[in-house]
Amino acid sequence: MRFLPDGRAKLAGAGLLALLLAWLAFRPGPGPAPGSAPPGDAIGPPTPPQWHFRATAWSALAFLLLTGLGLGAWTFMQGRERHEVAVALTGGDPRRAPELMTRYGCGGCHTIPGVPGADGKVAGPLTDMRERVFIGGVARNSPQAMIAWIVDPRAISPRTAMPATGITEAEARNVAAFLYAR
Ligand code: HEC
Repeated sequence: MRFLPDGRAKLAGAGLLALLLAWLAFRPGPGPAPGSAPPGDAIGPPTPPQWHFRATAWSALAFLLLTGLGLGAWTFMQGRERHEVAVALTGGDPRRAPELMTRYGCGGCHTIPGVPGADGKVAGPLTDMRERVFIGGVARNSPQAMIAWIVDPRAISPRTAMPATGITEAEARNVAAFLYAR
């Protein structure tokens, strides 16, 4: 979903558009004018003038709903696949990670999407870790290096400002799984 802006913004936009289209499609048409001839008496086919407009709104609404469903399903499948790959790579459980990262204070230094309150600016944000080539600028990115870094960064890069936080290797596996699953 990299080609689209922030998830919430596009969801709100699509929602507003769907609401507008739904309103156009469903809004009550003008009733017969008071005192006008009963339907059928009019000359020519009794096609309401707004019919074409409604048909367009209906197709647009259907199109938007189907596209939304498709995009939603695709995003869901992608997320699930990333989750499975991350679990296979690290042997960790990503669902346990947010609580661990809060407990060990990772969010005080790093901004970490998906971890409440993790908005630190001391170091870079922990995003797109599965696409990085290096960890801490020195170690080739691999699940082993990632876990080792999280447990004891100074063993890998002695002058790094990141301290060992006391997190265990088993816990670091969960955190690494989370970071790779994003
Ligand atoms: C005191 C601040 C601080 C804390 C707390 C901290 N880090 Fe870091 N972290 C850093 C700094 C600074 C770097 C950049 C290291 C470098 O390039 O030498 C870093 C780098 C990293 C990297 C490599 C990112 C990259 O861009 O290469 C990962 C992954 C990481 N930290 C995870 C964590 C996790 C998980 C925790 C919690 C267990 C944590 N950090 C806690 C300061 C911190």
